[in-house]
Amino acid sequence: MSKKRAFQTIRGMRDVLPQDMPLWKFVIDTCENAACAYGYSRIETPLLEESGLFVRSVGEDTDIVKKEMFTFQDHGGDSVTMRPEFTASIMRAYIEHGMMNQPKPVKLFETGACFRYERPQSGRFRQFHQFTAEIIGSQEAAADAESIGLSYAVLKELGLEVVIQVNSIGTFESRRAYVKQLKSFYQPKMRYLCKDCLARIKSNPLRMLDCKKKKCVEMMLEAPQIIDHLDEESKNHFVKVLEYLDAFDLPYALNPQIVRGLDYYSKTVFEIWAKDDEGAARTGALGGGGRYDGLADILGGCETPACGFALGLERVIAKLKEKNVQTQEEQKFDIFLAHLGEEACKRAFLIVEGLRAKKYRITYNLCKASLKHQLELANKFGVRITLILGEKEVSDHSILIKEMDIGAQESVPLPKLERELEKRLRA
Ligand code: HAM
Repeated sequence: MSKKRAFQTIRGMRDVLPQDMPLWKFVIDTCENAACAYGYSRIETPLLEESGLFVRSVGEDTDIVKKEMFTFQDHGGDSVTMRPEFTASIMRAYIEHGMMNQPKPVKLFETGACFRYERPQSGRFRQFHQFTAEIIGSQEAAADAESIGLSYAVLKELGLEVVIQVNSIGTFESRRAYVKQLKSFYQPKMRYLCKDCLARIKSNPLRMLDCKKKKCVEMMLEAPQIIDHLDEESKNHFVKVLEYLDAFDLPYALNPQIVRGLDYYSKTVFEIWAKDDEGAARTGALGGGGRYDGLADILGGCETPACGFALGLERVIAKLKEKNVQTQEEQKFDIFLAHLGEEACKRAFLIVEGLRAKKYRITYNLCKASLKHQLELANKFGVRITLILGEKEVSDHSILIKEMDIGAQESVPLPKLERELEKRLRA
């Protein structure tokens, strides 16, 4: 009979293996500890939402909604979508749970998996993880700056040098006027546009500024810039944001090409690029964010100014690996119990359970194995003490205590085991 086919992860999905966990833990702890220090509270929203939530907030004409959502009908016939990002869900939760009645601003963070059906390539997956931090209820430029400041602080703490790329895309009204100008600029040049930009000029002209094709980039350099078409309010807001960034001494670059791929933004938008990855060409942006004052209204809530950002954890981790950042695997156990024979195995189970209940960090071997193999395992775990339970010890109710650093070994009656361990480990 032929062997059955072994399964593999599907395209764009990855396992995170135990050896990578210390790095993941380091990154997530750093993000979340910083968020807590900046006064954010944790929220957890569901992986699945009503599809309309993302269609309305991210925008019908965006790549995310048009091509990338994992959408399906549930058994009740409703269209549901696996979240492609957090901001829409967090704003939905803010409105649904009446958080507008809390003192403002409400600051929320979340870490978890997002799903986008993109073409997998370096730094781009179909399941990826974001850390997102949102400030809801403040229209002040100080909130934009603090949001940018938190993203910078996290990456600095992780040991990464970044430059924040900032731009303002103004209010929805000022953008409408600008988009008209942009269209008139591109119309006579239509035949030089790439296939994607030909579609974008109809559906989402702002995204043409973000095109990476050589010809389109060349044309874009001549295109009118949104920054020159901002309304007074957006202009003043942006100037204030930049003043704050200067005051906080944050490294930023004004970048008129940053327009973002989600429709809910207004005024400030930004991306976080690794310093040695100019153009974010290799890894892609480590993160992105901005102000989204219109989102609450779009989702049926009261008008609520808000801003925030998300970091892509796979990209941050790839960058840390590139820089060879080492994280220590946490020492998990102090004691290993080696056992020989069936009776010893049963007793070992009870001893281990008893010591775990007393908060000793102890492990043992579940497979039948020689003493030599078990001592090798104990060495691998780096324990300070190995307990040895053979047939002789079972019959006379004793146990051997071996101190791994000096190799000394002593037989003690079982009832005295805990006192002996306490002396050696906790004195
Ligand atoms: P975004 O720019 O779409 O923004 O995603 C933020 C970050 O998630 C990106 O900069 C990137 O690091 C990572 N990312 C996005 N797609 C992928 C992918 N396919 N594979 C790997 N990493 C990816 C948002 O999602 C907004 N919700 C951010 C935000 C929060 N704006 C305001 N608040």
